[in-house]
Amino acid sequence: MSDLESGTAERECLIEAVNVDKSYTTQREVIHVLAQTSLQVLKGEVLGIVGASGVGKSTLLHVLGGLDKPLKGSVLFRGEDIYKQSNGYLENFRNGHIGFVFQFFNLLPDFSALENAMFPALIRNQDRRLARERAEYLLCEVGMKDRMNHKPGELSGGESQRVALARALVNQPDLLLADEPTGNLDYHASDQLIELIRKLNHEFDQTFVIVTHSQRVARKLDRVMELVDGKVSPSSQNLVI
Ligand SMILES: Nc1ncnc2c1ncn2[C@@H]1O[C@H](COP(=O)(O)OP(=O)(O)OP(=O)(O)O)[C@@H](O)[C@H]1O
Ligand SMILES: [Mg+2]
Repeated sequence: MSDLESGTAERECLIEAVNVDKSYTTQREVIHVLAQTSLQVLKGEVLGIVGASGVGKSTLLHVLGGLDKPLKGSVLFRGEDIYKQSNGYLENFRNGHIGFVFQFFNLLPDFSALENAMFPALIRNQDRRLARERAEYLLCEVGMKDRMNHKPGELSGGESQRVALARALVNQPDLLLADEPTGNLDYHASDQLIELIRKLNHEFDQTFVIVTHSQRVARKLDRVMELVDGKVSPSSQNLVI
């Protein structure tokens, strides 16, 4: 039974996009991506976002994660508009509450997998030994035990992706935003990663938003929303959960 059926719908909202507009202006045109787009993410759920390539899934995730200010509308985290706070708020919001897995990983090329995974904890001035222990634990969990000392240039796409997930989880964020975190993984590694997400969700009540093109992944999530023409609505995927 999905959590939706078992009562997720009554949970409090952790983060919410309200009537968000976002467009990109290039030399030739203005591309309207999000238009009056709204989405609620409930505390403790594992939410999937699906949609065609280019529809704006990454854009929506960046807006939710405090990485890209919308032109209009608001993003409310625990009821506070993250883009209307004083200087330094967004940085604290991202470092203190959010883990982000970028679609193209964004690992630091000159540092090892372990150093990359430790990085967010060091930014928060956490004890180096504890940061290392936590990063090592997560890298083992994502099957990267034997590659911790490799630099990103010495890793495969799927390995880089798993390091990016470990990095995003190192500070035990309240909310993990993951942009196609299994896009480069085979079934086995993908299933393992979703199992880890499920485990963390269960043990620590962490909330996850996962953009995916994979039906196999989407079927394992609590709820799946689809982005079409800037509007978010329940995916027909929900019917098969
Ligand atoms: N910096 C940018 N400048 C101009 N256009 C952009 C920029 N970033 C994204 N776009 C355009 O905005 C639209 C939405 O992009 P986005 O990356 O959010 O799509 P997506 O749904 O994540 O696609 P995919 O599934 O391929 O990752 C696309 O048409 C893209 O070409
Ligand atoms: Mg994308």
